[in-house]
Amino acid sequence: MSPTVFEDRDALAAQRRRWREAGERVALVPTMGNLHEGHLGLIAFAKQRADRVLATIFVNPSQFGAGEDFERYPRTLPEDLAALARVDCDGVFVPAVNAIYPDGLPPRTRVTPGPLADDLCGAHRRGHFEGVATVVLRLFNLTQPDLAIFGEKDFQQLLIIRQMAADLALPLEILGAPIARDARGLALSSRNGYLSEQERMRAAALQQTLQRVVAKAQTSTQPPDWPAVCGQAEHALEALGFVVDYLTVRRQADLLRPSAEDRALVALVAAKLGTTRLIDNLCFQL
Ligand code: PAJ
Repeated sequence: MSPTVFEDRDALAAQRRRWREAGERVALVPTMGNLHEGHLGLIAFAKQRADRVLATIFVNPSQFGAGEDFERYPRTLPEDLAALARVDCDGVFVPAVNAIYPDGLPPRTRVTPGPLADDLCGAHRRGHFEGVATVVLRLFNLTQPDLAIFGEKDFQQLLIIRQMAADLALPLEILGAPIARDARGLALSSRNGYLSEQERMRAAALQQTLQRVVAKAQTSTQPPDWPAVCGQAEHALEALGFVVDYLTVRRQADLLRPSAEDRALVALVAAKLGTTRLIDNLCFQL
Protein backbone atom coordinates (compact mmCIF):
# COMPACT_ATOMS: atom_id res chain seq x y z
CA MET A 1 0.00 0.00 0.00
CA SER A 2 1.24 3.51 -0.76
CA PRO A 3 2.44 5.42 2.28
CA THR A 4 0.60 8.62 3.17
CA VAL A 5 2.75 11.56 2.06
CA PHE A 6 3.01 14.47 4.52
CA GLU A 7 4.45 17.75 3.30
CA ASP A 8 3.47 20.03 6.14
CA ARG A 9 4.03 19.82 9.85
CA ASP A 10 0.35 20.11 10.87
CA ALA A 11 -0.90 17.12 8.85
CA LEU A 12 2.01 15.08 10.18
CA ALA A 13 1.27 16.14 13.78
CA ALA A 14 -2.41 15.18 13.37
CA GLN A 15 -1.47 11.68 12.13
CA ARG A 16 1.06 11.30 14.92
CA ARG A 17 -1.67 12.17 17.43
CA ARG A 18 -4.04 9.55 15.98
CA TRP A 19 -1.37 6.86 16.22
CA ARG A 20 -0.63 7.81 19.82
CA GLU A 21 -4.33 7.74 20.73
CA ALA A 22 -4.58 4.25 19.21
CA GLY A 23 -1.64 3.17 21.42
CA GLU A 24 0.56 2.41 18.41
CA ARG A 25 4.36 2.38 18.60
CA VAL A 26 5.96 4.49 15.88
CA ALA A 27 9.42 3.96 14.34
CA LEU A 28 11.17 6.67 12.36
CA VAL A 29 13.56 6.04 9.45
CA PRO A 30 15.19 9.33 8.36
CA THR A 31 16.67 9.41 4.85
CA MET A 32 17.79 11.81 2.16
CA GLY A 33 15.90 9.81 -0.49
CA ASN A 34 17.19 8.12 -3.65
CA LEU A 35 16.14 5.00 -1.79
CA HIS A 36 17.96 1.70 -2.30
CA GLU A 37 17.75 -1.73 -0.67
CA GLY A 38 19.78 -0.44 2.29
CA HIS A 39 17.10 2.13 3.12
CA LEU A 40 14.29 -0.35 2.44
CA GLY A 41 16.01 -2.82 4.79
CA LEU A 42 15.77 -0.19 7.54
CA ILE A 43 12.01 0.10 6.91
CA ALA A 44 11.62 -3.71 7.21
CA PHE A 45 13.79 -3.67 10.36
CA ALA A 46 11.58 -0.90 11.78
CA LYS A 47 8.34 -2.70 10.93
CA GLN A 48 9.46 -5.71 12.96
CA ARG A 49 9.81 -3.48 16.00
CA ALA A 50 6.90 -1.04 15.75
CA ASP A 51 3.25 -0.81 14.74
CA ARG A 52 3.82 2.10 12.38
CA VAL A 53 6.81 3.15 10.29
CA LEU A 54 7.35 6.71 9.25
CA ALA A 55 10.13 7.55 6.79
CA THR A 56 11.44 11.02 6.06
CA ILE A 57 12.97 12.21 2.81
CA PHE A 58 14.89 15.46 3.10
CA VAL A 59 18.18 16.40 1.45
CA ASN A 60 19.47 18.41 4.36
CA PRO A 61 21.43 21.46 3.16
CA SER A 62 23.08 22.09 6.55
CA GLN A 63 25.07 18.83 6.50
CA PHE A 64 26.78 19.52 3.16
CA GLY A 65 29.95 21.59 3.11
CA ALA A 66 30.99 24.12 0.49
CA GLY A 67 32.10 22.27 -2.65
CA GLU A 68 30.27 19.08 -1.65
CA ASP A 69 27.49 17.44 -3.67
CA PHE A 70 24.32 19.14 -2.28
CA GLU A 71 23.23 20.44 -5.71
CA ARG A 72 23.86 17.23 -7.57
CA TYR A 73 22.67 14.87 -4.81
CA PRO A 74 20.14 12.54 -6.55
CA ARG A 75 16.52 13.56 -5.98
CA THR A 76 14.16 10.80 -7.15
CA LEU A 77 10.89 11.33 -5.26
CA PRO A 78 8.50 9.47 -7.65
CA GLU A 79 10.73 6.37 -7.63
CA ASP A 80 11.19 6.67 -3.85
CA LEU A 81 7.42 6.76 -3.25
CA ALA A 82 6.99 3.73 -5.54
CA ALA A 83 9.70 1.87 -3.58
CA LEU A 84 8.05 2.75 -0.25
CA ALA A 85 4.73 1.45 -1.60
CA ARG A 86 6.36 -1.97 -2.09
CA VAL A 87 7.45 -2.19 1.56
CA ASP A 88 5.32 -1.75 4.64
CA CYS A 89 5.82 1.97 5.23
CA ASP A 90 2.85 3.81 6.71
CA GLY A 91 3.83 7.40 6.10
CA VAL A 92 6.56 9.56 4.62
CA PHE A 93 7.36 13.12 5.61
CA VAL A 94 8.78 15.09 2.68
CA PRO A 95 9.27 18.56 4.12
CA ALA A 96 10.22 21.71 2.27
CA VAL A 97 13.33 23.46 3.59
CA ASN A 98 11.28 26.02 5.55
CA ALA A 99 9.32 23.28 7.36
CA ILE A 100 12.61 22.15 8.90
CA TYR A 101 14.38 25.51 9.05
CA PRO A 102 11.67 28.16 9.67
CA ASP A 103 14.50 30.32 11.07
CA GLY A 104 16.35 30.10 7.73
CA LEU A 105 19.82 28.86 6.87
CA PRO A 106 22.28 28.50 8.43
CA PRO A 107 20.03 27.38 11.29
CA ARG A 108 19.92 29.81 14.20
CA THR A 109 19.72 27.12 16.89
CA ARG A 110 22.04 24.16 16.30
CA VAL A 111 23.12 20.97 18.02
CA THR A 112 26.86 20.80 18.66
CA PRO A 113 27.81 17.16 19.10
CA GLY A 114 30.77 16.20 21.29
CA PRO A 115 34.40 15.74 20.17
CA LEU A 116 33.58 12.63 18.13
CA ALA A 117 32.06 14.97 15.52
CA ASP A 118 35.53 16.40 14.78
CA ASP A 119 37.19 13.03 14.22
CA LEU A 120 37.21 10.66 11.20
CA CYS A 121 34.57 11.91 8.71
CA GLY A 122 34.11 15.04 10.81
CA ALA A 123 37.78 15.96 10.36
CA HIS A 124 37.33 15.83 6.58
CA ARG A 125 33.81 17.30 6.47
CA ARG A 126 33.86 20.24 8.90
CA GLY A 127 30.42 20.95 10.38
CA HIS A 128 28.88 17.86 8.78
CA PHE A 129 27.79 16.17 12.01
CA GLU A 130 26.50 19.42 13.48
CA GLY A 131 24.23 19.59 10.42
CA VAL A 132 23.21 15.95 10.86
CA ALA A 133 22.49 16.27 14.61
CA THR A 134 20.57 19.51 14.06
CA VAL A 135 18.29 18.06 11.38
CA VAL A 136 17.80 14.75 13.18
CA LEU A 137 16.73 16.48 16.40
CA ARG A 138 14.23 18.57 14.42
CA LEU A 139 12.92 15.44 12.68
CA PHE A 140 12.59 13.72 16.07
CA ASN A 141 10.66 16.66 17.49
CA LEU A 142 8.35 16.89 14.48
CA THR A 143 7.63 13.15 14.32
CA GLN A 144 7.96 12.18 18.01
CA PRO A 145 8.89 8.55 17.37
CA ASP A 146 9.16 5.83 20.01
CA LEU A 147 12.22 4.51 18.22
CA ALA A 148 14.45 5.63 15.36
CA ILE A 149 16.51 3.42 13.07
CA PHE A 150 19.89 4.30 11.55
CA GLY A 151 22.19 2.18 9.39
CA GLU A 152 25.51 0.86 10.71
CA LYS A 153 26.89 1.83 7.32
CA ASP A 154 27.24 5.36 8.76
CA PHE A 155 28.77 4.06 11.96
CA GLN A 156 30.03 7.41 13.23
CA GLN A 157 26.68 9.07 12.50
CA LEU A 158 24.85 6.33 14.44
CA LEU A 159 27.13 6.83 17.44
CA ILE A 160 26.78 10.63 17.37
CA ILE A 161 22.99 10.32 17.29
CA ARG A 162 23.09 7.82 20.16
CA GLN A 163 25.24 10.28 22.14
CA MET A 164 22.86 13.16 21.34
CA ALA A 165 19.84 11.10 22.45
CA ALA A 166 21.57 10.14 25.71
CA ASP A 167 23.03 13.59 26.43
CA LEU A 168 19.78 15.47 25.74
CA ALA A 169 17.61 12.81 27.45
CA LEU A 170 15.52 12.33 24.32
CA PRO A 171 12.53 10.10 25.07
CA LEU A 172 13.14 7.54 22.33
CA GLU A 173 15.22 4.48 21.52
CA ILE A 174 17.93 4.53 18.85
CA LEU A 175 18.59 1.28 16.98
CA GLY A 176 21.32 0.43 14.48
CA ALA A 177 20.53 -1.84 11.52
CA PRO A 178 23.03 -3.96 9.54
CA ILE A 179 24.74 -2.83 6.33
CA ALA A 180 23.19 -3.90 3.00
CA ARG A 181 25.76 -4.73 0.30
CA ASP A 182 25.77 -5.66 -3.36
CA ALA A 183 26.92 -9.08 -4.56
CA ARG A 184 30.57 -7.97 -4.62
CA GLY A 185 30.44 -6.58 -1.08
CA LEU A 186 30.15 -2.88 -1.89
CA ALA A 187 27.97 -1.16 0.73
CA LEU A 188 24.87 0.25 -0.98
CA SER A 189 24.84 4.04 -1.07
CA SER A 190 23.04 6.77 -2.98
CA ARG A 191 26.50 8.03 -3.95
CA ASN A 192 27.30 4.74 -5.75
CA GLY A 193 25.22 6.18 -8.59
CA TYR A 194 28.07 8.65 -9.25
CA LEU A 195 30.46 5.75 -10.04
CA SER A 196 31.21 4.48 -13.54
CA GLU A 197 30.78 0.73 -14.04
CA GLN A 198 34.53 0.29 -13.79
CA GLU A 199 34.75 2.36 -10.58
CA ARG A 200 31.89 0.40 -9.05
CA MET A 201 33.81 -2.86 -9.58
CA ARG A 202 36.91 -1.31 -8.03
CA ALA A 203 34.93 0.10 -5.08
CA ALA A 204 34.33 -3.41 -3.73
CA ALA A 205 38.03 -3.29 -2.72
CA LEU A 206 37.04 -1.13 0.26
CA GLN A 207 35.28 -3.99 2.03
CA GLN A 208 37.84 -6.56 0.86
CA THR A 209 40.64 -4.42 2.30
CA LEU A 210 38.85 -4.10 5.65
CA GLN A 211 38.39 -7.88 5.70
CA ARG A 212 42.14 -8.32 5.18
CA VAL A 213 42.90 -5.92 8.05
CA VAL A 214 40.59 -7.86 10.35
CA ALA A 215 41.93 -11.27 9.26
CA LYS A 216 45.49 -10.12 9.85
CA ALA A 217 44.64 -8.92 13.36
CA GLN A 218 42.65 -12.01 14.25
CA THR A 219 45.34 -14.48 13.13
CA SER A 220 48.27 -12.60 14.63
CA THR A 221 49.81 -13.99 17.82
CA GLN A 222 51.13 -10.52 18.75
CA PRO A 223 48.90 -7.59 19.74
CA PRO A 224 48.25 -5.84 16.41
CA ASP A 225 50.38 -2.86 15.42
CA TRP A 226 47.38 -0.89 14.13
CA PRO A 227 49.24 1.99 12.48
CA ALA A 228 51.39 -0.50 10.50
CA VAL A 229 48.46 -2.76 9.53
CA CYS A 230 46.26 0.18 8.55
CA GLY A 231 49.12 1.96 6.75
CA GLN A 232 49.70 -1.08 4.52
CA ALA A 233 45.98 -1.37 3.76
CA GLU A 234 45.87 2.35 2.90
CA HIS A 235 48.75 1.90 0.44
CA ALA A 236 46.96 -1.04 -1.16
CA LEU A 237 43.88 1.14 -1.75
CA GLU A 238 45.99 3.99 -3.08
CA ALA A 239 47.60 1.58 -5.56
CA LEU A 240 44.06 0.90 -6.84
CA GLY A 241 43.47 4.62 -7.42
CA PHE A 242 41.67 5.58 -4.18
CA VAL A 243 42.52 8.77 -2.34
CA VAL A 244 42.15 7.68 1.28
CA ASP A 245 40.81 10.12 3.91
CA TYR A 246 41.34 7.57 6.70
CA LEU A 247 41.60 3.85 7.32
CA THR A 248 41.69 3.02 10.98
CA VAL A 249 40.66 0.61 13.72
CA ARG A 250 38.69 1.94 16.69
CA ARG A 251 36.60 0.77 19.62
CA GLN A 252 33.00 0.03 18.67
CA ALA A 253 31.59 1.69 21.79
CA ASP A 254 33.02 5.20 21.34
CA LEU A 255 35.33 5.17 18.28
CA LEU A 256 38.34 5.97 20.43
CA ARG A 257 41.69 4.33 19.66
CA PRO A 258 41.83 0.82 21.11
CA SER A 259 44.10 -0.21 23.94
CA ALA A 260 45.55 -3.75 24.12
CA GLU A 261 42.62 -4.85 26.32
CA ASP A 262 39.84 -3.77 23.95
CA ARG A 263 38.05 -6.60 22.15
CA ALA A 264 34.97 -5.11 20.39
CA LEU A 265 36.51 -3.17 17.50
CA VAL A 266 35.56 -1.69 14.14
CA ALA A 267 37.70 -1.08 11.07
CA LEU A 268 36.60 2.06 9.22
CA VAL A 269 37.52 3.58 5.89
CA ALA A 270 36.66 6.71 3.90
CA ALA A 271 38.17 7.19 0.46
CA LYS A 272 37.54 8.99 -2.79
CA LEU A 273 37.33 7.24 -6.11
CA GLY A 274 37.41 9.99 -8.72
CA THR A 275 35.07 12.63 -7.31
CA THR A 276 32.98 10.18 -5.28
CA ARG A 277 33.58 9.86 -1.55
CA LEU A 278 32.74 6.40 -0.16
CA ILE A 279 32.72 5.04 3.39
CA ASP A 280 32.58 1.55 4.82
CA ASN A 281 33.28 -0.30 8.06
CA LEU A 282 33.53 -3.77 9.53
CA CYS A 283 32.84 -4.68 13.16
CA PHE A 284 34.90 -7.50 14.69
CA GLN A 285 36.07 -9.05 17.93
CA LEU A 286 39.65 -9.80 18.93
P1 PAJ B 1 21.03 8.66 3.92
O1 PAJ B 1 22.43 8.65 3.41
O2 PAJ B 1 19.91 8.75 2.93
O3 PAJ B 1 20.83 7.38 4.80
C1 PAJ B 1 19.62 7.20 5.50
C2 PAJ B 1 19.79 6.01 6.44
O4 PAJ B 1 20.04 4.84 5.67
C3 PAJ B 1 21.00 6.19 7.38
O5 PAJ B 1 20.65 5.72 8.67
C4 PAJ B 1 22.05 5.31 6.74
O6 PAJ B 1 23.01 4.80 7.65
C5 PAJ B 1 21.19 4.19 6.17
N1 PAJ B 1 21.88 3.47 5.09
C6 PAJ B 1 22.42 3.99 3.96
N2 PAJ B 1 23.01 3.03 3.23
C7 PAJ B 1 22.85 1.86 3.93
C8 PAJ B 1 23.26 0.51 3.71
N3 PAJ B 1 23.94 0.14 2.65
N4 PAJ B 1 22.91 -0.40 4.65
C9 PAJ B 1 22.22 -0.04 5.77
N5 PAJ B 1 21.81 1.21 6.02
C10 PAJ B 1 22.13 2.16 5.12
O7 PAJ B 1 22.28 9.27 6.55
C11 PAJ B 1 21.56 10.12 6.05
O8 PAJ B 1 20.82 9.91 4.92
C12 PAJ B 1 21.42 11.51 6.64
O9 PAJ B 1 22.62 11.89 7.25
C13 PAJ B 1 20.23 11.63 7.65
C14 PAJ B 1 20.44 10.71 8.87
C15 PAJ B 1 18.90 11.29 6.96
C16 PAJ B 1 20.16 13.09 8.16
O10 PAJ B 1 20.00 13.99 7.13
